[in-house]
Amino acid sequence: MESMGELKRSHSCNDLGVDHIDEEVTLMGWVLRRRDHGGVIFIDLRDRWGITQVVFNPEFNSEVHAKAHALRSEWVLAVKGKVFNRPDGMVNENLKTGAIEVLVSELRILNVSRTPPFPLDEDVEVSDNLRLQYRYLDLRRAGMADNLIMRHKACQALRAYLNDENFLEIETPVLTRSTPEGARDYLVPSRVNAGKFYALPQSPQLFKQLLMVAGMDRYYQIVKCFRDEDLRADRQPEFTQVDMELSFVTEEDIYRIAEGVMVRLFRATREIELKTPFPRMSYDEAMERFGSDKPDTRFGLELISLNEDVKDCGFKVFRSVVEKGGLVKSINAKGCATFSRKDLDDLTGYVGNFGAKGLAWVKVKEDGEWQSPIAKFFTEEERAGMSRTLRAEPGDLLFFVADTPDIVHQALSELRLELGRRLNLMDKDTFNFLWVTDFPLVEYDHDQKRHTAVHHPFTAPVDEDMELLDSEPGKVRSRAYDIVLNGTEIGGGSLRIHQKEVQDKVFTALGIDAEEAADKFDFLLKALELGAPPHGGIAFGLDRLMMILAGRDTIRDVIAFPKTQKATCPLTDAPAGVARKQLTELYLRPDWQEKES
Ligand code: AMO
Ligand code: AMP
Repeated sequence: MESMGELKRSHSCNDLGVDHIDEEVTLMGWVLRRRDHGGVIFIDLRDRWGITQVVFNPEFNSEVHAKAHALRSEWVLAVKGKVFNRPDGMVNENLKTGAIEVLVSELRILNVSRTPPFPLDEDVEVSDNLRLQYRYLDLRRAGMADNLIMRHKACQALRAYLNDENFLEIETPVLTRSTPEGARDYLVPSRVNAGKFYALPQSPQLFKQLLMVAGMDRYYQIVKCFRDEDLRADRQPEFTQVDMELSFVTEEDIYRIAEGVMVRLFRATREIELKTPFPRMSYDEAMERFGSDKPDTRFGLELISLNEDVKDCGFKVFRSVVEKGGLVKSINAKGCATFSRKDLDDLTGYVGNFGAKGLAWVKVKEDGEWQSPIAKFFTEEERAGMSRTLRAEPGDLLFFVADTPDIVHQALSELRLELGRRLNLMDKDTFNFLWVTDFPLVEYDHDQKRHTAVHHPFTAPVDEDMELLDSEPGKVRSRAYDIVLNGTEIGGGSLRIHQKEVQDKVFTALGIDAEEAADKFDFLLKALELGAPPHGGIAFGLDRLMMILAGRDTIRDVIAFPKTQKATCPLTDAPAGVARKQLTELYLRPDWQEKES
């Protein structure tokens, strides 16, 4: 192995073109590929920026050529040489440096590499676990590096915008008290305070509110948040928020700033000019039309209620659901009557995962008649009425689910997405934003047998609904909003409660009594009594946003070192066991270790 010595890199592997012909250059990077062509050796040399073809010709320099025979994938090189036009017919249009090559006069092998556990070509399929175990190799792959570069650009763009808008970037603590956002906390035991624990923040929510009380007026932070919850493609145990809070504002001010962030970010990363303002939809309308509070509005297939049509019909399943206060809703899959029996069985199984007890279907024949296992339960008029409500035409496929509102909405919204996928209706280069507004303040939690906050307990109720707080808390609307992009919730926020009496009332409605409130949130309640200004804010999920911008299906692909579904890191093998002594120091008893041994 050799050192760089006096060699200094003159260009990146993406810099050189016909303007550099005849120049002496020095490049450094990794061997991506090696090809031997009748004695001449070609190496694709790769760095973060790109690829340059370097050439070892025995007729030009036999010593260097002999040395190049040994080179293998992922060895680290420094090469010095002269830039030449590639011969006619050898130009690679797909490569920025494709018109030239570097004829090498000096080669230094800076490091060798074992054969990598997987090929680093972008398009080779590699198992997730192996990718994560060797993440530093995975990140050498072009597509993955591009994702991190795009993420960097996004952060720069949003910082520039928020700085222009007079925000201060302020850090908040990571070792702190629990900030409830609906997930479990990660706890950190304190060595110097026996039996006490810090919680890692689920969000900086309370600190950013305190910064408003402190008069900072406009705060932002690109911040890690920690939530111990079941993981999915768009959920990691630690993830990044772009967190903001503003004083003396209304929803409109926050929408304008948030839209401004998106405009700058899309411009910087994808050169896309977004149209603002973004459309808005109330929570009720989103549930009614899409069965979801984060509708993907890139395609139709909306849910249509049939309660009126079927309330007196002969199909007992539908009639009795309506009688019990449930819903019968339908999706008209236009032109899908060609679906096979197997397709229908698959889809029935699919909605079953979301609690649907069945999936009734109707194929509309050329003459408008129904082909369906449930056709016989309806009179001709009933069938005609339902067809009208659903705007059914020959060739359409109608789906029905009858159940409680929760199940109908969940099953049909998932069926809608599945149909969208099967019918290729989700164009990755269309970006549909939507503000979802007028959320209910609280929802009933059947497990805990009490109301819980839909957003978080610090969200302000709509003024005119305040009087319902004691009598009908479920009817109180909140001043919360979510921002949805292509069916993914990429952010959420609210105007906050800034007056102590209101906060007390909301805690009461949530079944949090004065003692518990004082125990958990005394510091916030005190601050509300010491000149808290009206304030509100929003937090974006940066990982989710980047996933969509990069056209990926999981946020793992836009995080440098993500965790697995089981919240482990195959690279470092975290979480890991610790020495008994450490546990004792932390006043923890290693019961489970004893059980195991
Ligand atoms: P919320 O809980 O809605 O709001 O979080 C804001 C956004 O963060 C993203 N997000 C996640 N991303 C990846 N993995 C996770 N486990 C995860 N959990 C949430 C989502 C979400 O929209 N303090 C409030 C914000 C506020 O009121 O200002 C909050 O944390 O994209
Ligand atoms: P059954 O008479 O139970 O065999 O049901 C006839 C059809 O209605 C079948 O295609 C079932 O999948 C469907 N079905 C049964 N229950 C429901 C329901 N709750 N919602 C929608 N379709 C249902």
